Amino acid sequence: MNVPNHVAIIMDGNGRWAASKGMPRNYGHAKGSNTVELITQAASDLGIKYLTIYAFSTENWSRPADEVDALMKLMREYIKRCIRKAAKNNMKVRIIGNTSKLAPDIQELIAELETSSAGYTGLNFQIAINYGSRDEMIRAVRRIAEKSADGLLKPEEIDEELFASYLDTKEIPDPDLMIRTSGEQRLSNYLLWQMAYTELYFTDVPWPAFTKEELVKAIEVYNGRNRRFGNI
Ligand code: IPE
Ligand code: IPE
Ligand code: MG
Repeated sequence: MNVPNHVAIIMDGNGRWAASKGMPRNYGHAKGSNTVELITQAASDLGIKYLTIYAFSTENWSRPADEVDALMKLMREYIKRCIRKAAKNNMKVRIIGNTSKLAPDIQELIAELETSSAGYTGLNFQIAINYGSRDEMIRAVRRIAEKSADGLLKPEEIDEELFASYLDTKEIPDPDLMIRTSGEQRLSNYLLWQMAYTELYFTDVPWPAFTKEELVKAIEVYNGRNRRFGNI
């Protein structure tokens, strides 16, 4: 099996999965956070080098306050567990998204997670929190414009490489395969610049029920595809 270098995942369907069991949406989120641990381990075992997951979008703030609170609470617990897991599994963890809008204690946990795992050489694991591609690109453009206004950058120096270096994903190769669970077939503002040539895979399996076997299935489908980058 030819394993993709970078797999990006939109973890969707926590709420619907819980509802199908007669349980509240937050039960689905809790189960979904267990799936994250399972899949980071699986990705590592399969030899995937980069894994990026979408945990909370810039649009998710518009959900009911109690659901947002529950997601933030789960985030705290997950990040704490992840600090230990990263050390145990040699995992380098980075957060993408606008973290400055998160609660101060979450920002501190993120700093601890990123700093403590920076030297690890196994799986490169990116978690998108308060992430939206449009927001990411606007933040990049602002910083580029500031540099230019200060006379430190000429407009003709701005090319794809320079722009990408201002994104949250700088130093991270573009995804080869994107998996979205739970049936929806859209990108929901995820890695729009980075996924210009990514293969897309959609499955009806909801995130809390996603397994290593489902990940392998996605990789097998990816293997059967004829990847192209605009050439013939
Ligand atoms: C994904 O599951 C988790 C987040 C977006 C935080 P959802 O909460 O979107 O679950 P559905 O799509 O409503 O079933
Ligand atoms: C995308 O899922 C965001 C995350 C998985 C964090 P959503 O469930 O929020 O996306 P939409 O609203 O269905 O597009
Ligand atoms: Mg959803």
